[in-house]
Amino acid sequence: MSYPYVIRNYCPKDLDDLVNLVNEAKRLKDEHYISPQTPIESLGRLQDYYFEKDLFLAEIASNIIGYVNVTRELNIGRVVLSCLVHPRNRRKGLGTKLFGHAMHHAKQLGAKVAHTNIYQDNVVAKRFLSKLGFKFVRLYLELRLNFANVHLPDTDQPFLCRHLKPGEEDRLTKLQNRSFADTWGYNPNTVEEISYRTSLPDYSPRNIILAYEGDRPVGYCWTQADLDEKQANAVGGKKGRVYMLGVDPDCRGRGMGKMVLLAGLHHLKSKGFQIVEATVDSENKTANSLYRSIGFKEWTTSLWYEKTID
Ligand SMILES: CC(C)(COP(=O)(O)OP(=O)(O)OC[C@H]1O[C@@H](n2cnc3c(N)ncnc32)[C@H](O)[C@@H]1OP(=O)(O)O)[C@@H](O)C(=O)NCCC(=O)NCCS
Repeated sequence: MSYPYVIRNYCPKDLDDLVNLVNEAKRLKDEHYISPQTPIESLGRLQDYYFEKDLFLAEIASNIIGYVNVTRELNIGRVVLSCLVHPRNRRKGLGTKLFGHAMHHAKQLGAKVAHTNIYQDNVVAKRFLSKLGFKFVRLYLELRLNFANVHLPDTDQPFLCRHLKPGEEDRLTKLQNRSFADTWGYNPNTVEEISYRTSLPDYSPRNIILAYEGDRPVGYCWTQADLDEKQANAVGGKKGRVYMLGVDPDCRGRGMGKMVLLAGLHHLKSKGFQIVEATVDSENKTANSLYRSIGFKEWTTSLWYEKTID
């Protein structure tokens, strides 16, 4: 293409321009402007080290007109890509170039497969991905609960539930990795990653409920506050999220999941949240029926696409 763009690595001074690109895409009413995993929310919070190495910008005459981010999940041999091209610069081959750049980088990192996630009605991205040789592999359900429409049962707990205490991140890491060991797309976390996440205001230990059997944590509900007020107005109330919910495989089938989920929901309700969202793999029948039994309803779906890196 005779288009004088360059593709280069992100550096911290690009942050404002990148945020402007995303806001501009939103302003131009690009409803599904972005894949569910946008790096922008994390920029300025996650270690810059990775963004400087794994986030690439397309630029014309010093204007940033697109990006592709490569999230490393190399313990399971994959990277997760997310990409945005400014609406005025689309259909000129730029997305294809950015993805090509990202796939080359992923290969150098030693990844075997690239995944990307889009909302179900993102018709353009579906065409784009299939042209690039990506195949649909997994359907995720986006669930929502409105406290105004459900009666939350009390939790008569045979297990002790309490908030995570600072310093217990290693116990949470172990429990999370055990709970999600066989889960599609789960990249085991390190204690550093969990500690980093719990240091963020919206993921703080106060929002994590652990359920104990004796002195052993065997279940947890990690709730998250959505701090975006515009989003809250759009869905009709202050919004929280069940970010993670897990029960140790040895302790399943005894009501622990429901109990710890209810404890998490009571916590969110007590903090004034009206809406709670959760994302669940459509193939995870147990989690689906648990969420639905409490009153969660599906409001949309998202699709995972995959391409092998050769
Ligand atoms: C998806 C996106 C990154 C594509 O970027 P782009 O630079 O416009 O894409 P390209 O010009 O490289 O298009 C490559 C192919 O995708 C398909 N495509 C792209 N835009 C399309 C459109 N509006 N309608 C139909 N097909 C389209 C075509 O097959 C196209 O090849 P062709 O032009 O030879 O027919 C861009 O539309 C975008 O930023 N969308 C919002 C963000 C998003 O959805 N991200 C998820 C990406 S996985």
